[in-house]
Amino acid sequence: MAAIGVYDSGLGGLSVWREIRRLLPEESLIYLGDGKNCPYGNRPKEEVARLADEAVGHLVALGCKLVVVACNTATAAAIEELRAKYAELPIVGMEPAVKPACLNTRSGVVGVLATERSLDGDLFRRTAARYGEHIEVIAAAGRGFVELVEADKEQSPEAEAAVRAVVEPVLERGADQIVLGCTHYPFLKAMIERVIAGREVSIVDPSPAVARRVKQLLEEHNLAAPAGSRAELRFETFADEAYREKIRRKACVAENM
Ligand code: DGL
Repeated sequence: MAAIGVYDSGLGGLSVWREIRRLLPEESLIYLGDGKNCPYGNRPKEEVARLADEAVGHLVALGCKLVVVACNTATAAAIEELRAKYAELPIVGMEPAVKPACLNTRSGVVGVLATERSLDGDLFRRTAARYGEHIEVIAAAGRGFVELVEADKEQSPEAEAAVRAVVEPVLERGADQIVLGCTHYPFLKAMIERVIAGREVSIVDPSPAVARRVKQLLEEHNLAAPAGSRAELRFETFADEAYREKIRRKACVAENM
């Protein structure tokens, strides 16, 4: 039975993988963590679009029946082109979860954490304009966050300093919703919670909604694995064998988060 492909620049998409595994335990999955070109966050849009195209092409060549671009940066740079090029293939992208945050805010201030490239893109601007009328949407680049997650340093003093530097100014401006607009950031959730400590602030992670969208599309396209299927899990990378092992280990961490 064909697998669902899940792609990210590196390890971050495993936060989405985890939600798909929870919701659809019978589905086989192929995770592609580029690894060779990570981080994407400061690269020009055209370059990210080219990398995303190569990655999705790779998953298509492996026979994937549906692809999740589990990377906000690649989604912002390339989702429309990818959907046009692979017209037969259902493709799910990441949208910054600005809508639920704007619906739930009581203070009228929402913070969105993402990479510079995502915050700079039309997708973020459009989403913020659509749902953020009468609401202050503060965009904050998670400087250093991706590198910390890639280095397994989520619990380190460096991680605490990096998270404080980005999140505290957003809290000081009155945000009561913090949107995780990059799939690496859920790995830093415990640290973000520590910085938020004592305040009535919600962290909004879009990955459960992405998993629900995957389920819905599988059903619509009649692609769901038959009941009782045994999921096969496979890990792919454009980096080396050591990175593939790293993905495998981080997938276990993600599943227990
Ligand atoms: N996980 C990514 C995202 O959701 C990419 C981060 C990066 O490579 O800079 O944006």
